[in-house]
Amino acid sequence: MRYDAVLFDLDGTLTASAPGIYGAVQYALERMGYAPADDEVLRKFVGPPLHDSFRRYLGMDADAAERGVTIYREYYGEHGLLDCSVFPCIPNLLRSLHEEGVYIALATNKPTHLARRVLGHFGLTRFFDAIIGAPLDRQHGDKSDIIRAALPPRAKKVAMVGDRRYDMEAAKACGVDAIGAGWGYGSAEELGEAGADAVCETVEDAARLLCGVDAPPQKGFFITIEGLDGSGKTTQMHAVAAHIASRGYDVLLTREPGGTPISEDIRRLVLDPEKTMSATAEALLYAAARAEHVRKLIRPAIQRGSVVLCDRFVDSSIAYQGGGRELGIETVMGINAAAVDGMLPDLTLLFVVDAERALLRRSAATTLDRLERAGEAFFHRVYDAYARIAEMSGERVRCIDASRDIETVAKESCLHIDRLLASR
Ligand code: TYD
Repeated sequence: MRYDAVLFDLDGTLTASAPGIYGAVQYALERMGYAPADDEVLRKFVGPPLHDSFRRYLGMDADAAERGVTIYREYYGEHGLLDCSVFPCIPNLLRSLHEEGVYIALATNKPTHLARRVLGHFGLTRFFDAIIGAPLDRQHGDKSDIIRAALPPRAKKVAMVGDRRYDMEAAKACGVDAIGAGWGYGSAEELGEAGADAVCETVEDAARLLCGVDAPPQKGFFITIEGLDGSGKTTQMHAVAAHIASRGYDVLLTREPGGTPISEDIRRLVLDPEKTMSATAEALLYAAARAEHVRKLIRPAIQRGSVVLCDRFVDSSIAYQGGGRELGIETVMGINAAAVDGMLPDLTLLFVVDAERALLRRSAATTLDRLERAGEAFFHRVYDAYARIAEMSGERVRCIDASRDIETVAKESCLHIDRLLASR
């Protein structure tokens, strides 16, 4: 490890916080009778102390700037603070540093209690040894005192990562390496002129610089979505994907059967309502599609640190071919062992609706595939097999009552996701 302590700025470095900040500035301007600011001016507000920005970029005197800050805060605390997302790969970077025993601190111009709320919201607090924000009455741009307060008692080599000139200047004044976050809101020129020792274009570049080139990439997560046709799992999958992305992870959405060219070919074959085939051939085709999917798409993405969100996986074979087609759970698990090749999900969200309700939802569809045309008794057996899977699989499978409204179901799904993301 190259550094024994790394300090991070928040806005524009860990989080893409522009939307909430822009909204609050515009609100303050409107209330004070000023014309709305354009994007170029708004961009300058992300990072530096607000008082400075109201004076410097909008030509206000000290009293007006003071009022601007007060009105801004009224709006921001209520509506703007969490109107942001974590930059992709930031959680992996924090995790890598944390696992290597590197001291991690937040050094931000945001008031400490607000910075804590943001980190808490995104499940990032656990990575931080210190969270240092600015006092509420702070008006000047120099961040050196915040950086000094964030430094560990003893550290030989320290880096400060930030996206604005304030971060770079203060880092240099405190004798720590200034690393420019080129993915944030300051330009490479601004960071370079302010004395950055290095400017990283992407979070991955920063990870290489901070962790060393040989650092193993962080493992991602494998999440699968299961349920009867008509359980509403596909709608939920999109809500869950957006939620994971807002937590700063790269999300790869995929499905089974499918996800690679060969697996999509197999999908067409196995779901074609014109075809008939034995249950064993059907199970083997799903397994073949899966073998390709695991090797070509799922495993490489997880090794790169992405979160793979897969619509159906081996549990579907166990439920549909093992239960529905009555091949037996053990037989289908046996058929799939080589296909899955140890790649079991970290979490499976099982959307539970009874077979009758699922049938009602399905009957709204205009075209039904080969599996969806199987009779009612088939779907009752699939339902029972899913229940067995949930019993056998312990904590991996989380059953979610999907008969409730979409928002309630999505909220519960996202809670399970947050627990998983916080587990490493
Ligand atoms: P799905 O993608 O959920 O269908 P749709 O896109 O129409 O919502 O799944 C396709 C069908 O394949 C579904 O009826 C379940 C079935 N299936 C199995 O029988 N075994 C399996 O292993 C998988 C992955 C799917």
